[in-house]
Amino acid sequence: MPDNLPHRLSKVRPHWDGPTPVSVQFDDPYYSREDPLGEVRHTFLEGANLREKAARGDITIAETGFGTGLNFLAAWKAFEDTAPPGAVMTFISVEVSPLSTSDLERAHSPFTGLSAYADALRVLWPGAIPGVHRLSLSNGRVRLILLFGEAEAMLSRQRFAADIWFLDGFAPAKNPEMWRDAVLAQVARLSQTGTRLASFTAAGMVRKGLEAVGFKVEKRPGHGRKRHCITAEMETTEAPPSVAPWCRWPAPVPRGARIAIIGDGIAARCAGRSLGQAGFEAIRVAGPESALYAASTLPRALIAPKLVRGIEPFPLFWRQAFWDAVRELDALSDVWVGSRGLSIPDAKARNKALRDDLAWPEDVLSLDGNDTLSLPAAGSVDAPSLLDQLCGPPEVSQDVRSLEETGSEWCLIGTSGKTLLSADVVILACGPAAHGLMGIQSGLRIGAGQMLMARATQHPGNAVLKNGYMTAADNNGVLALGATAKGHAALGPVPVSDEATQEILGRHGDSLGDISEIKPWTGLRCDAGDHLPLCGPVQDSERFEARFAGLRHGQRLSTEVEAPYRSGLFAMTGLGARGFQAAFLLADHLTSILTGRPSSLDADIADALLPARFQVRDMKRNQ
Ligand SMILES: Cc1cc2nc3c(=O)[nH]c(=O)nc-3n(C[C@H](O)[C@H](O)[C@H](O)COP(=O)(O)OP(=O)(O)OC[C@H]3O[C@@H](n4cnc5c(N)ncnc54)[C@H](O)[C@@H]3O)c2cc1C
Ligand SMILES: C[S@@+](CC[C@H](N)C(=O)[O-])C[C@H]1O[C@@H](n2cnc3c(N)ncnc32)[C@H](O)[C@@H]1O
Repeated sequence: MPDNLPHRLSKVRPHWDGPTPVSVQFDDPYYSREDPLGEVRHTFLEGANLREKAARGDITIAETGFGTGLNFLAAWKAFEDTAPPGAVMTFISVEVSPLSTSDLERAHSPFTGLSAYADALRVLWPGAIPGVHRLSLSNGRVRLILLFGEAEAMLSRQRFAADIWFLDGFAPAKNPEMWRDAVLAQVARLSQTGTRLASFTAAGMVRKGLEAVGFKVEKRPGHGRKRHCITAEMETTEAPPSVAPWCRWPAPVPRGARIAIIGDGIAARCAGRSLGQAGFEAIRVAGPESALYAASTLPRALIAPKLVRGIEPFPLFWRQAFWDAVRELDALSDVWVGSRGLSIPDAKARNKALRDDLAWPEDVLSLDGNDTLSLPAAGSVDAPSLLDQLCGPPEVSQDVRSLEETGSEWCLIGTSGKTLLSADVVILACGPAAHGLMGIQSGLRIGAGQMLMARATQHPGNAVLKNGYMTAADNNGVLALGATAKGHAALGPVPVSDEATQEILGRHGDSLGDISEIKPWTGLRCDAGDHLPLCGPVQDSERFEARFAGLRHGQRLSTEVEAPYRSGLFAMTGLGARGFQAAFLLADHLTSILTGRPSSLDADIADALLPARFQVRDMKRNQ
């Protein structure tokens, strides 16, 4: 089993041989010294039949070795030139030593025909933060999923089927690590019958290795002075890996399907935007009664990562979500309030251990002499302005009382008792109300929360997370102080509590000077017992129980069986105390499920978000 721990990524600086970046470690150029773009087009784009495949529609390209991204940029341009409207390119690339933005800029500078693409890539470039990063380009038409870490470890966590592979990890003689059988086995596992592969190297060990995992390999003339390169095709893939039946997604939703999204909070709006970009017509439904207690009506939201050690789905999901949200929020206009940055004063041992475990670079996470962690990318956002920029108000302004399944359609019944809408697909992005509408054991817990907006005469420059949080102050010295949490609330407005106000004010002592104009805000949070959101298809509990009864007796289940999901019913809820971070990534994940495109979530994270997980756990414990 590969070591999946996030390691600090080495920050390599290439040396420059004229305009060409060359790896100091491997003494090999990132791209060809002569006619690099010509070689990329010949070796990779033509070798893998990219244009032909893109002309048919959606395409998934995977790559070993992102390097300067030249292959990606050339593929992006070829895709734009060839693919039909509505098609999406997902490009997944693994890279252990991401270059700095300035080195990328220098490496991109000779390719003036690609400069618009290269500029857009560098704006979103994550830097050397280990883990998975999703970059949405060309208004969602191009999805770049960067797997920052060692090739085998990162690929082993994925579940996708590439149409095309580019193998580009420096010469095998200089970097044999990248061409090990174990890496090639992952390439094969993430392929399907007919997957085309292209590589600049025709080394015998690579050809043999690829043949051993099922590719039919052909040598072809190389570009310019290079004698050979290779192209290969996956003949027949072996049986799919043994994935539990409930972890296989239902068939993609046809593009013309009518989708109803129930809700108007951050989850529903992110889902609406993401599905809209994917070409679906999504209709949002939410009424004024539920808005009175919806968590997303809060005035300010802190964007601060959930910092937990470990490599389980829980810490990894929240880390990825934080950086995902920062990228999305940076792309909107004027949503950040006050100075950027967050300070986390804490006990020395905990903060040091955290910093070491996360392995984030010093410029995005530092620990000062007072044992305070600083994160310059975190900050506070104006929640109403953010929601407005994502989508307009809901198309149907009434709450949903119940759902009725009539043949192949869903009827949404309003509080008036009348049918509000019928739809092929329903997405429950309605916070705590999703529990009742799903009709499953959802694991959701509903809690009441209170925060305060206040004007303070003193405040630190940026947000602080200590005994609750304090956002950055705006130009008028107004900031948000958070937050209390009381479990087991019922659906309905949350009365303001003086006790909660005093509790919050008491946490911050006199560090804020004189506090005036205190305005409490209350709402309902909902989260699942394991602190992960619910995102994915909703199961039919009774049929699930009957079909997987063997789980209760520790039996191994056939992976061929289909999970009984309720046709067209999906959930995106349980966003907990950090919904403004989770929603962007979840919306993209949900869109991946509906379109059948690769998700940017590791397979074990995607599985850990399935609404069916609570039923599976209970059945396994025979409860
Ligand atoms: C006090 C407090 C402070 C918080 N601070 C932060 C913070 O600083 N940063 C952060 O990231 N997160 C924070 N959160 C959490 C964050 O607000 C939530 O995670 C997030 O708003 C959840 O979004 P949602 O869209 O899933 O649910 P909600 O915001 O609850 O939205 C649910 C939507 O569904 C609609 N709806 C409900 N029932 C029905 C129905 N029957 N029919 C139709 N529509 C319905 C509602 O009107 C609403 O539009 C805080 C929460 C609280 C309570
Ligand atoms: C030749 S460059 C890739 C060039 C790239 N495709 C481009 O378009 O610029 C090879 C890349 O593979 C990366 N690499 C090398 N060994 C690796 C490994 N074991 N895991 C992940 N990436 C690796 C290097 O850091 C380097 O960026």
